[in-house]
Amino acid sequence: MAQSIPENVVEEIRERTDLVDLVGEYLKLERRGKNMVGLCPFHNEKTPSFTVSPEKQLFHCFGCGASGNVFSFIMKMDNLSFPEAASVLARRGGVKIPEVKSSSPDKDDLKEKIYRINKLAARFYAYCLTSTDYGKKALEYLLKRGIKGDTIEQFMLGYAPADWTGFLKFAQKKGVSPDLMVKAGLVSPGKERGYYDRFRNRIMFPIFDISGKVAGFGGRLLIEGGKDGPKYLNSPETPVFDKGSMLYGLNLAREEIRREKKAVVMEGYTDVVTAFQAGIKNTVASLGTALTTTQARHLRSQADTVVTAYDSDLAGEAATWRGLTILQSTGCRVQVADLPEGSDPDSYIRAKGADSFLNIVNNANPLMEYRLSQLKKRYNLSSDKERVEYTEELMSILLSAVNDIEQNYYLKKAAEELNVDEEALRSELKKRRRGGRRYKDVGKEELSWQQKKDEIRPAEKILISLMLQNKELAQQSRNLLQLDYIDDLRVKEIVKAVWDQVAHGQRPEADKLMNRFEDQQIINLITEAVTDPSLQDLPPHIAKRMTGDCINQLYQVWVKRQQKELQKRIKELELQGLDEQIDELLRKHQHLLVRKDGSPYRLGEGGDFNG
Ligand code: UTP
Ligand code: MN
Repeated sequence: MAQSIPENVVEEIRERTDLVDLVGEYLKLERRGKNMVGLCPFHNEKTPSFTVSPEKQLFHCFGCGASGNVFSFIMKMDNLSFPEAASVLARRGGVKIPEVKSSSPDKDDLKEKIYRINKLAARFYAYCLTSTDYGKKALEYLLKRGIKGDTIEQFMLGYAPADWTGFLKFAQKKGVSPDLMVKAGLVSPGKERGYYDRFRNRIMFPIFDISGKVAGFGGRLLIEGGKDGPKYLNSPETPVFDKGSMLYGLNLAREEIRREKKAVVMEGYTDVVTAFQAGIKNTVASLGTALTTTQARHLRSQADTVVTAYDSDLAGEAATWRGLTILQSTGCRVQVADLPEGSDPDSYIRAKGADSFLNIVNNANPLMEYRLSQLKKRYNLSSDKERVEYTEELMSILLSAVNDIEQNYYLKKAAEELNVDEEALRSELKKRRRGGRRYKDVGKEELSWQQKKDEIRPAEKILISLMLQNKELAQQSRNLLQLDYIDDLRVKEIVKAVWDQVAHGQRPEADKLMNRFEDQQIINLITEAVTDPSLQDLPPHIAKRMTGDCINQLYQVWVKRQQKELQKRIKELELQGLDEQIDELLRKHQHLLVRKDGSPYRLGEGGDFNG
C-alpha cells in the first residue's frame, strides 16, 4: 500500500508533522524529563505510561506496548489505512501528494470514492435546503425550531427533495455511476429496473467522522407519522459508515471536550445541534443506540468525565446501562444528568436556556448512585416481598461497581437504608460474585488455590483476547481446550459465552458478548481483551500458534496439578493397603494422559500444539 505514495513524499510528511503536536490533539501530555507522558489512548489506565519522545519522534506505551511514529499513531487512533493516514497528515502539514494511479484499485480506493460522493451529496442537500423553492418548507421548519442559519451552515444541514430521483439525476450529471451511489447507500436499485433516492423529503444531517469527512447521513421526516418510513432514516452500513463507531458531532466537539476534559453524550442529532447553538460545545450524540466499545474508546481518549443526558425513557433501559458500564470500564468517570421526564436536551434548552441545562449537567450523579436511586423509586420498601426483590436487584447493580471502594461505599449505604447487617449483605454479594444467579453451575465449584489469588494467569487473558478475534481461533479453542484448564471463573464465563456464539454460527463479537454480563469485572476483562493492541492484527499463523501455545500451557499446569493430586491419593491408599483401589484409580484417570482431541499427550513437550 505504501508504495502508492513516493518515499520522498512520505518523508516530507513525516518531517512536517510533529508527533507531540499530533498526539496533543488527542490527549493531554505532560513533560517528564526529556519526554512527554499521558494516559494511553490504546488501553485503559489510570496512571500515565504513554510516552512520547520529541527528540526521536516516537511513542511508546509502557503499559500495553503500543509504539510507533506519526503514521502509526493516527492509523491506530482513527482506524485509518496507511494511505489514509498519509493523506490526513499531508493535508495537516500542507504537503501535496502527487496523483499516482494506484496499482490495484482496491478497497481504499472505494472508500475514497464513497467519501467524495458523500461530500457531493451533502452539498447537494444543503443547496436544496437553502436555495430552492421545494426546500422552503424544510428551511421554515428548521427556523421555526429555533435553528439559525449559521448553525445550519456549520452542521451542513440539508434537505433531500421529495421526488424519487433528485439526487440520482444530479449525481449522474456529475458523472457518478449509480453503482457507486448504491455502494455509498445514497440510492437503491428499483425492484424492476432503475434506481431511486434512499432519502426523500427529509431534513438531512451529514454525519462527519473525526477528520471531518462525511461518513453517512441521518434523515428526519418533515412530518412525523404517516407511511414514509421511520422518523429518522440513517445511511446503511457502507465501507466508511459503521453506525456503532460514530459519534455525531465529535468532529466539532473534540476540541472543547479535550479542553474541558468532559463530554456530554446525548441521544439525537437535534440535541447536539441545539446544544452547540446555545454555546455548549462539548456534546456528541450516540445516534439513538446504546454506547458501544468503539464509541466508548473515542470518548475516553478525549475526556475524563462523560455526562450522559438522555431522554428519561431511554435512561432506564438495560441496554443503556450496559453501554454506560462499558464506558466506565474504559476508565471514564460516568455521570447521569437527570432531565425532567418527557424532555430531551433540545427541548429543555429551548424551553429553559443553556444555563439551566448546564446546571443539570454539573449536578449529574455518578452512574452507580443514579442507578440505585432509580431502583429505589420502583419499589415499596415497606412491603417484605418487594424488599426481597429490591435486594436482589441491588446486588446485581452493586456487582457492576468499578472497584471495591465504590462497591463498599454503596453497600454500606444500602445496608443502612435497608437496616440490615452490612456483613450479611457483603457475604450475599460475595456468593453472587462467585456464581451469581446467572452462573449457577460455576458457583457450585470449589475455588482452587489459584483462584484465591486475584491474579489471572497471562495465558488465560491472552487466550480470550485471541478467541475474540475471529471464528477460527475461537473454534480452535473449542476443539482443544477444556473448561477445567481455566482457573479464573470470569474467564471461564467469557470462554463459554464465546463458544456459545460460535456454536450458533456467529463470529465472536465483544460488543454482543458484553450484553450477557453485568459483572463489571467480566466487562472489564472483555474490554481489555479486545483493546490490548499488542495482540491485535497478528498474522494469522502467529495468532493460531499463540492460541495453541496458550491452551497447551494451561493444559500442562492442569495435568500436573491433577497428577499431584493423584499421587497424593495413591500414597494415602498405599498407606491403607488398598492396592485394588489404586488400580481402579489409575484406570479412572487414564484420561489425564490423553488430550481432548484424543491424541496421546507427552508431558514436557514444548509449545506447538497444532503438530
Ligand atoms: P428521537 O425520536 O428522540 O428524536 O430519537 P430527536 O433527536 O429528539 O428528534 P426531534 O427532536 O424529534 O426532531 C433520538 C435519536 O435516535 C435516532 C436518531 O439518531 C435520533 O436523533 N433515531 C430515532 C433513529 O436512528 N431512527 C429513528 O427512527 C428514530
Ligand atoms: Mn427531540
